[in-house]
Amino acid sequence: ETGSVLFDPSKLQKQSSLPSEFIWPCGDLVHTQEELNEPLIDLGGFIKGDEEATAHAVDLVKTACSKHGFFQVTNHGVDSNLIQAAYQEIDAVFKLPLNKKLGFQRKPGGFSGYSAAHADRFSAKLPWKETFSFGYQGLNSDPSVVHYFSSALGEDFEHTGRIFQKYCEKMRELSLVIFELLAISLGIDRLHYRKFFEDGNSIMRCNYYPPCNNSGLTLGTGPHSDPTSLTILHQDQVGGLEVFINNKWYAVRPRQDAFVINIGDTFMALCNGRYKSCLHRAVVNKERERRSLVYFVCPKEDKIVRPPQDLMCRSGGPRVYPDFTWSDLLDFTQNHYRADVATLQSFF
Ligand code: SIN
Ligand code: FE2
Repeated sequence: ETGSVLFDPSKLQKQSSLPSEFIWPCGDLVHTQEELNEPLIDLGGFIKGDEEATAHAVDLVKTACSKHGFFQVTNHGVDSNLIQAAYQEIDAVFKLPLNKKLGFQRKPGGFSGYSAAHADRFSAKLPWKETFSFGYQGLNSDPSVVHYFSSALGEDFEHTGRIFQKYCEKMRELSLVIFELLAISLGIDRLHYRKFFEDGNSIMRCNYYPPCNNSGLTLGTGPHSDPTSLTILHQDQVGGLEVFINNKWYAVRPRQDAFVINIGDTFMALCNGRYKSCLHRAVVNKERERRSLVYFVCPKEDKIVRPPQDLMCRSGGPRVYPDFTWSDLLDFTQNHYRADVATLQSFF
């Protein structure tokens, strides 16, 4: 069933027992102590055009993306004050009373709005979180984010809208830098992906994970791979993001000064499977609330997803995935998403 169950997050937190809807299968709950040793890539030199720094960054990207598709970046050009402001502003949104938040609830199949714990996808169980999402197009410094906040949440949230408008602009710039790095690392025209994504419609999602008395029985975000192309995530200092590699979960250590980057399914197709889109999840804990800010880069809906000719010539190998459009995959993930199956595999 989709979209039908609704729990009040503040009441849930006070309950000593967990409703069965939130109890995930044992197999999904396996606990880990191990940390992922993903590379930490200093983007400063690359952005300045330094050759040695670029070669080093390219090396690290290539290794990480061939293995699991996760890395972290520092000196990314996003002001830490802006990141902190984004957290502060979104905290105020999550702290609104539930009836107020339901006034701007995300519609089934829609992108924008608030979502409490309800099954909006075919996931096995309910996630222990609240989310707030909206789209961002970013063409011609279109102020759509400000408009969205003030129209959906009211004039009191215009300032919040401005902060997130700025945040998304920065995410867009950073994503284009990373697309150049990815292209260089694949040995193709360095502007190829940059151009491909320049007119894309991205999605911003803010996650709020309340503490949970029964944190060992539930998940904040169940195991999934991102159907989108590139994910730029900031997590607060609590920690909870984990990645599944070779049958084991690894925790991604939070770093205030870094963004976690991961490859999504659509980019995996755009590089003919050379780089991996990997299963990940978010765990919750008993003591502390956790927040994450996630920017998903997507191509324009009707663009054909197909690896570039120079990549195919270089590798000489056969196509791993047939052509598709982002809107086809999007429809599929919204209607048939199975959190425990790699999206692309079940799509074709
Ligand atoms: C997600 O992958 O959707 C969320 C991960 C996180 O909150 O760290
Ligand atoms: Fe994800």
